[in-house]
Order: sequence, then structure tokens, then C-alpha cells
Amino acid sequence: MLETEVLIVGSGPAGSSAAALLSSYGVDNILVTKYRWLADTPRAHITNQRTMEVLRDLGLEAEAMLYATPNRLMGTNVFCTSLAGEELGRMRSWGSDHFSYARHRIASPTEMVDLPQTYLEPILFGAACARGTKARLSTEYLGLVQDEDGVTATVRDRVTGETYQIRARYLIGADGGRSQVAEDIGLPMDGKMGVGGSINIVFKADLSRFVAHRPSALYWVLQPGSDVGGIGMGLVRMVRPWNEWLIVWGYDINDKQPEITDAYAREVAHSLIGDDTIPVEITSVSAWTVNHMSARKYSSGRVFCMGDAVHRHPPSNGLGSNTSIQDAFNLAWKLAMVLKGAATPALLDSYTAERAPIGKQIVNRANKSIGETAPIFKSLGLLDTNDPEAMIANMESRKENTQEGRERRKALRDAIAFKRYEFDAHGVEMNQRYDSSAIITDGAVRPDFTDDPELVYQQSAFPGARLPHAWIEKDGRDFSTLDATGHGRFTILTGIGGAPWIESARTLAGELGIEIHAVSIGPDQDYEDNYGDWARAREVEDHGVVLVRPDHFIAWRSTNLPADPTAELRRILMAVLGR
Ligand code: FDA
Repeated sequence: MLETEVLIVGSGPAGSSAAALLSSYGVDNILVTKYRWLADTPRAHITNQRTMEVLRDLGLEAEAMLYATPNRLMGTNVFCTSLAGEELGRMRSWGSDHFSYARHRIASPTEMVDLPQTYLEPILFGAACARGTKARLSTEYLGLVQDEDGVTATVRDRVTGETYQIRARYLIGADGGRSQVAEDIGLPMDGKMGVGGSINIVFKADLSRFVAHRPSALYWVLQPGSDVGGIGMGLVRMVRPWNEWLIVWGYDINDKQPEITDAYAREVAHSLIGDDTIPVEITSVSAWTVNHMSARKYSSGRVFCMGDAVHRHPPSNGLGSNTSIQDAFNLAWKLAMVLKGAATPALLDSYTAERAPIGKQIVNRANKSIGETAPIFKSLGLLDTNDPEAMIANMESRKENTQEGRERRKALRDAIAFKRYEFDAHGVEMNQRYDSSAIITDGAVRPDFTDDPELVYQQSAFPGARLPHAWIEKDGRDFSTLDATGHGRFTILTGIGGAPWIESARTLAGELGIEIHAVSIGPDQDYEDNYGDWARAREVEDHGVVLVRPDHFIAWRSTNLPADPTAELRRILMAVLGR
């Protein structure tokens, strides 16, 4: 029988990143995936700063940037009657609003980009295989049995038809929204599948002249009376600027799924472009459902699920693959430490405690964002009538010098601006806070957010928050505080007067059999804090300490230097590691 430490089912963003992380941490793993290759349609694309930080930790940020459409080309979210037709309004999105841009720059060393899944998956999967993952493509997971020591999975080689077993100490179910693994281990789910239906049309067409002056990832087209999306709203999404595109529109899930021929797909594309002389080459057509479901528990015994297997929601806010990769970043180091004997399996309980609330939050947010488009329809008078001609007349009335015209214009401006909860929700992406046995607050109460937690990222050095990013300098080069941490190991950050912490870390690394990276920041220390940004962010004294987990989250901090720092740090590490 084939044996490994971790068997990963699925090669999507969740499975490929889990494999890349585990291999980077030196954990033996096998990845099986059903099809002969990775994603064949560019579904996920919005790649947020937190995900870019995971890629940066893996040493893959530069490669991702080679394939990504940069932030400056993705933010002019346009609402129009067709690409060639009238524009209804625009909003600056994904951090391109001037205030939001500054907040993004302050929050992270990374840039939010547009990186379609068809480009992202090969980067993660390639790194995983290069670093040790044994991948078995065209291999379908069929079922599992677990016992006290491990999991035995049955898989089928779809090339030869042969069925065989793989024995692993742990299994990760990253098998997507129809997860067989989640079903087999009976994860409790809340919500509903199939609350809406959507069609994707992928096509090639040079649309530069309609879009290059207002570069964006998303162009929303409102065409009352057209056969698209009930009210007539379709999305033209950039896949590659400006010649590869994906059209999305919804259909009533209670109706029959529309049959999409190539000719019909071309017709839809031409109608949304608004110019049927543009050559259009249809690449693929597919249907998918809008879901509203999340798991209350992410694991059972030795089996852990992540990604769409445990949170299923529409693409609004672009959170799916981002959250999947962040799930993997949360679990991988914990599995590595348990498998290396540094932590007890109790550490693994913190995975559900930390990630399930995030999963629930993003499922709710993504579904809520769909409903929050209604004020745009309302402002244009599209909800007042079912008659397409009357709808068009209502839309036209926004141009009039009348009270109604003024009201419509204002309502439309406000409705578009309100969509920042979908298209510029920096807080949703970055304000994740954890509460679990792997976060030690010593009874202190977490401060509340002082600004809108969905819109505005608010940095915090309180345990359970992601380490604040600050630029620090070493040998004439700039590093982020995030660069000084992560990479599969614990890090302590201290400053002048904190030498006893560094000594304690050395002692405890040997005693506990873990790697603890010790960093002092300040004048003539390991890193310089020339701007004073770290001193302002850290919320502890120079001689205090911040203990950072391998996933950049703060496990604990001490404002000052206690009488016996080794005893303090031992107490904390033992608790975090569940020993
Ligand atoms: P995913 O579904 O990607 O992968 C599952 C894997 O499991 C696949 O490799 C599959 O072959 C494999 N598998 C399934 N069953 C198996 C079995 N029995 N045996 C072996 N292997 C099996 N997200 C985002 O972050 N930003 C965005 O902008 C968007 N945009 C977007 C647009 C559209 C149109 C859609 C439909 C979706 C998005 N998303 C998104 C969501 C995103 O695509 C989704 O959340 C991720 O792909 C989820 O990643 P997973 O790895 O969890 O599952």
C-alpha cells in the first residue's frame, strides 16, 4: 500500500497551496486529483493582499506577479448599457480609490492583483511538486476509513481503471463545493446549495478600444429586455487585458438551465459588447450554481476539509480561492508540528475554531453583496415595472433636468458608491481575528474595531490578529515584518533590552524541539526601524515581545520583560502547542 504523512484530495487553490506549504515545511505528502490537469476555466481571479502574503511566504510572489494583471489595471469598475454604449457610472475598486489605495499600501508589502485560477493553480501545484509533493493526476478519491493511527483512502486511477488504497496519518479534503470527503466524514453544514444559477462564457476578442481608457477587472452591463440575467444584467470580466474575457449572467434556478450553443454565446457576447462587428471566438461555456452554505466543523478525527468543501458561496467580493488558500496557511503548519512531534493533536482543534467563523462570515458577505446590487436597479427605475420599454424610459429619465432626474442621478451615485462593500471591502479581506487555544490573551479583552470592520483594515498587535506590516531594514534592504516571520516557524520580535527573550527562545527551541526565529528590531539590531513604523505598531515596549505563529498571526505578546522570560515563554508555547 502507498503510504504518506498527509494525503490531499484536490488540486484547486486549497489543495495545491496545502501541498506547497506542507512540502515547504518538509512534510511528506501525496496529492490526488480527479482530472488530468488543473483548473480549465479561469474562475477565481481577484487575489487579495492576504493571499499574496501567503504566496510571498512561499517565495512565489514574484512568479505570481509575472502572470497577474497588476492592480492599476483592475480597479475602474464600470456600469454601462454595453461596452460600446452609454456609461451609467463607475467606482474605484480593489484599492484604487485614493484613500483605499493608501490603506492598501500601509497594510501590506503586497499588491492586490487579478490572477485567474488557470494561472495561479499551476504556480502553487508546480511549487508543491518541485518541493516534494507526489502528485497523482486523473486519480479519483472514492472513500475513506479512519482508525486511531491514520486514514486509509480508496482511490481510482482514471487512466487504467485500477482501484487502490493510500494510507496516510492525516487526510485533507480540498475537493471543492461538491466535496465527497466532507460528506463522508459528515461535516455539519448550515445553509443551502443552489440558491441561484449562473452561466459562464469564456471568449477571446480584442476589446481594447472600449476598455483601455477605463481599465477594470469587471464591466457590468445593464440591458433591460435582453435575454440576459432576468433584469438584463450581465458581467463582462477581464481574463487577460484586453483580449480574453468571461461573461457571467444569472438564470432562475427554478427554470431549466438554458442551453448555450456557440452561436447563442456569440450573440450574448455581441450584445454585451454592443458592437457585432467585433470578432469573437468562444472558448468555453459552463454553468454553475450560487450556494449559501458553510460548515460548522472543519474536521472529524484525522480528516480536515478546506476551501469550497467547507464554505460555498457566490464569487461576489472575490473571496473563494483567497479564503481557500488562507485555510491551507492556517492548517499546514499545525499539521507539520504535530507530525514532527512538536505539538499534540490538540493544536489541530484550533483549525475549526479559527477558520469556521471566517468561512461563515465570507459566505454571508458574498451572498449579501448580491442583494446589495438592487439599489442600482432601483435608482434606474428597473424594479418599478416589468416592461422593458418602460425600464429603458426610466433609465433615460436620469438625464432630465427634472426633480425625478436629479433624484435618480443621486440615487444611482449613492447605490454605486455603496457597492464598496463588495468591490473595496479591505476589512473583509484583512481584518480576520482568531480566538482559540492557539491564541493566548491572558484574559485581556480584545479592543473593538474603531472603523467599519468590513471596509477598513485596522491593524492590531493584539493576540489573534495578523502581525502588522511595517517596513524594516537590514543591510540596506527593505523587508516587511511579515518577511521576518512565517516560513513554517515561530518568531519572537523584540527590541533593545529584549536580549533575555532571545536567550529564552534559544533555550526553548532546544527543549521543545521547535524552531524559534528570534529577531531584534531597533538601532544597530538585526533590523532597523528607520521610520518608527514598527515601534508605533507593536503595542509593546522595546524590551517586550511579540510571539508570531508561522501563519503571521500573533499568538501572544508581553508588554514588558518579566522576571523569568523563559518560564513565561515556555508556558505560552506549551499552551499553543497543546502540550
Ligand atoms: P476547487 O473546486 O477549485 O478544487 C477542487 C479540486 O478537487 C479540483 O482539483 C477537483 O478536480 C478535485 N476533486 C473534486 N472531487 C474529487 C475527487 N472525488 N477525487 C479527486 N479529486 C477531486 N474566488 C476568489 O477568491 N476570487 C474570485 O475572483 C473568484 N471568482 C470566481 C468567479 C466564478 C465565475 C466562480 C465560479 C468562482 C469564483 N471564485 C473566486 C471562487 C473560486 O473559484 C473557488 O472558491 C475556489 O476554486 C475554491 O478552491 P478549492 O480548492 O476549495 O476547490
